[in-house]
Amino acid sequence: ADTPDLPALLLDWYDVHARSMPWRTPPADRRNGTKPDPYRVWLSEVMLQQTTVAAVRDYFTRFTARWPTVADLAAAADADVMAEWAGLGYYARARNLLACARAVVDLHGGIFPATREALLTLPGIGPYTAAAIASIAHDEAATVVDGNVERVISRLRLVTDPLPASKAELTRLAAELTPAARAGDYAQAIMDLGATICTPRSPACGICPWRSPCRARAEGVEATLPRKTPK
Ligand code: ADE
Repeated sequence: ADTPDLPALLLDWYDVHARSMPWRTPPADRRNGTKPDPYRVWLSEVMLQQTTVAAVRDYFTRFTARWPTVADLAAAADADVMAEWAGLGYYARARNLLACARAVVDLHGGIFPATREALLTLPGIGPYTAAAIASIAHDEAATVVDGNVERVISRLRLVTDPLPASKAELTRLAAELTPAARAGDYAQAIMDLGATICTPRSPACGICPWRSPCRARAEGVEATLPRKTPK
């Protein structure tokens, strides 16, 4: 039987359907391998942690216009950053943002570290954000697992055990699929798939690049996954 190249199917879809976002590399630059600035990747990922893409867009544009580099942000007055953050919520993120910017300047000469390991030592950067920066800004084959990715993988691989117990298994399955090349595009492609096609309630399987290998689709149970243990 054919074994489809799952990452290639998803990347081909992303090449056509990637959502345009102010922190992403435009398609023409993506084709020649241009990576986005780690500062912009970090800032967008911190903003996106508890906030939707639609809400983050304008905040990101205002922040990067006012503070174009991590050194500019590190030198900002706390009150100015808090005021610019107002409305995004979860204000501990803004405090960590400043602490992290200052650590990058004080400890790393204003250059974001490139590896997950070094990123994890910075304030406010946990496994998710470290993997996102390593993959999106540096094409390190790191695996980014958020709620979208958990949903996509649970369906593709028919993981019927409920979250949160199934989290380790979903993370392992997601890591197994992560390609060595174009890791950053792949990370963002799987997020876009989860946000636009493999949605929680009525997934648009008819236009999904992973429709044919999807095991949940084959069983007709896609809309029931991932299962969740009631709190
Ligand atoms: N959510 C968090 N990070 C994202 C990204 N880089 N693209 C789309 N959605 C996201």
